[in-house]
This record gives sequence, C-alpha cells and structure tokens, in this order.
Amino acid sequence: MNINQIRKDFPVLERKINNKPIVYLDNACMTLKPKQVIDAMNQYYNEYPACSGRSTHKFARIVTEQVDSARDKTKTFLGAKNNSEIIFTKNTTESINLVANSLGLKRNDIVITTDKEHNSNLMPWLKLKENANINYKIIESNKDNTFNLSTFESIMSKEVKLVSMVHTSNIDGYTIPAKEIIKIAHDYGALVMLDGAQSTPHQRIDVTKLNVDFFAMSSHKMSGPNGVGVLYGKQELLEKMDPFIVGGDTVIDTTYDSYKLSPLPEKFEAGLQNYPGIIGLGAAIDYLTKIGIENIQNHEIMLNNIATRLLRDKVNIIGPSDSTQRGGIFSFYVEGISPHDIAMILDESANIMIRSGAHCVHSWFNKNKIAGSARASAYYYNTKNEITLFAEKVLEAIEFFK
Ligand code: ALA
Repeated sequence: MNINQIRKDFPVLERKINNKPIVYLDNACMTLKPKQVIDAMNQYYNEYPACSGRSTHKFARIVTEQVDSARDKTKTFLGAKNNSEIIFTKNTTESINLVANSLGLKRNDIVITTDKEHNSNLMPWLKLKENANINYKIIESNKDNTFNLSTFESIMSKEVKLVSMVHTSNIDGYTIPAKEIIKIAHDYGALVMLDGAQSTPHQRIDVTKLNVDFFAMSSHKMSGPNGVGVLYGKQELLEKMDPFIVGGDTVIDTTYDSYKLSPLPEKFEAGLQNYPGIIGLGAAIDYLTKIGIENIQNHEIMLNNIATRLLRDKVNIIGPSDSTQRGGIFSFYVEGISPHDIAMILDESANIMIRSGAHCVHSWFNKNKIAGSARASAYYYNTKNEITLFAEKVLEAIEFFK
C-alpha cells in the first residue's frame, strides 16, 4: 500500500489552512473521497443525468446499467448471493428503520441490542416499545467494553425475534464476535441484524459466511458519497416483508383501490433514487478493492498502536487495552478536561480534525457517567507522522489545561 500515491487521489489533502496541512482524523464520522469517486459522480451529472429503470432513451439506459453495476459490485463486496438482496437506502439509519418497520414486530416480541448502540439502533426499538409494546432488552458489555457471550446466551429465549447489534462500535472500534452471536441467536430461532456502518469500511465482510439475516451500511464511511446506504437482507426474508415507504418504483401497477408491489429490490426503493450517489458508491468499492480491505485494516491497527503507545499513560482509553481490538478508533477522555476543549486545541493549533462528545451514543456515556470522549479515527490515507503529531498535540493540550 503506497500511501503517498494514495494521498494524491484526494484533492482535499492538498489543502493548507493557515499555511499548515490538514490532518483529518474524523473518519468514523465521515471519510474523504478520492477523485475517482468524485469523477464518477460528475460524469453522471455531465454526461447522462437521467432516471434509472423508467424511461427507454439512451441516457436512461446508461443510468440503469450503471446502477445495476453498482448493485452488483455491492453484492460482491458484501459477499451476498443475489443482487435482489441489496437494497439502496439513504444511510445505515434508514436501513435499520426499514427492518424495524417492515418486520411486523408485535406485542411482547423481544428485540436485543448491545449497550453500545448508536441512536440509530436504539431509537427504532424505543419507538416500537412505545407504539407496539415490543420487549426491548439490552446486553451489558464487559468492563473493558467487549461483548459478553455468556450474558447474551443467558438472555436468549424462543421469544427473541431479533438481535440487532453494532458490528464495530463507533465509540471504541471494538468488533463483536458476530459469527458466534449469530449462531446462538439462530439456535433460538431469532433473526440477526448487524449495524455495519463502522465495520464495512475497515474489514472484510461476508454476509453469506456470517449467515447474518440483515446487514446495514453507509457509503460515506467508506470513501463513497453521502446520502447512500445499503440494506442487505436474505432474499426469503425480504420477500415476506412489507415495505414501510411506498410510492414510485415500488409498484408494478395500481388502480384507485389496489396495488401490486414490484419484486425485490425495487419494492423497498421508493421514489427517485440518488443515482450519482449509488454510482459513486460503486466507484468507492472499486477503489477500496484495489487497495485491499486487509491492507486497510492492518494499516489502521498499526496507527492505533502508535497512538496507544504514546498516550496510554496520560489518557483514559475507551475500549479494550489491546489496541489491535480497536481498529482505527482511538477514543479517550482526561478527567477534568472537556473533550471539546481538546478537539478545539488540536484543530486550532495544527488543523487536526477529530470528533468530541457522545458520538450519537448518549445512552452509553450516560450509563457510564462519562461526559464524552475525544475520538481520533484513522483511515487508509492517514500516516504515521499524522498520528504522532496528533499524540504530541494531545499531550500539549493536557499540559496546557493542567
Ligand atoms: N456515527 C458517526 C460517528 O460516530 C456519525 O461519528
């Protein structure tokens, strides 16, 4: 993996602010896009800016081909069996909401999540608890924020309909033992959904090998455009489910008092879709595939090792102490110093961009009585020098506030 070469593909990395380069370490929130992705989207707008799957003219035929090709690439990237199992959505949040609202969960059905869920995999269940009286249960993590398989197994029963869990946590980068969880859940007849927003960009995903029932992900976390997400679902499950948003393209025919739904995947893709975004996602998949997901994963772990080594005696790191279990995420807090102040100093002094706060996982921070964390999240274009500078500036900030 030639980082210097890779960095040349990112126009934004050429930017200087106050005559200093930028150090972008907020990749768990939003990743940067290479010119290959930007070009693919511009090409749509400049050369064939039409609808997919509707009209029969030349532009429309190209869009349809390009969208089909992006679906095919997504299928291969996720290890799915059929293109009809790939539903394009707006983001992971919409993918999870789609399942929550289309699965037909009813009173007393049990849904289980971890205690580290992003609001997108917490609020849909809280709403269903309110509106449909489902029974929502939460598994407590171990002290080091890792998953407790025994607690999980002890809570499982035949009444559990869905286990919906964050695959890789955006708080600390830890990945749950998904294969074991899925096996246990299936033994009890429960379905499993994984929130793959933070795992798909950083590790090899194979939904077929995992035998997961639903898998949600977002394009913007993997160098793709914003506003595009994916829901993978096993074909036999998606076929039985009722779409919760309906309209154009979800139907083959309507009368004033009836409708006939389209087959998969259109049944779930209501209204005009984000064609340049979907095509851009296809380009992002090509780009990441060329670099190699395993190379990306190893690179991030190497960077996390550096940050951990340089900072572990001075800050409280969230998650397991072994940095190889935290992917590209280095999340920490220092007693008596606001994470926002640390983030601000890093940005002001050296254009180092990180995220601070509760990272949309307020529930976990509230339970643990931690006001928030400062979180650096690396990706394949980040360098050793950048991570070292980040650590130096954190140490300087701690000295400043002492
Ligand atoms: N979930 C995203 C993050 O952690 C938005 O920053």
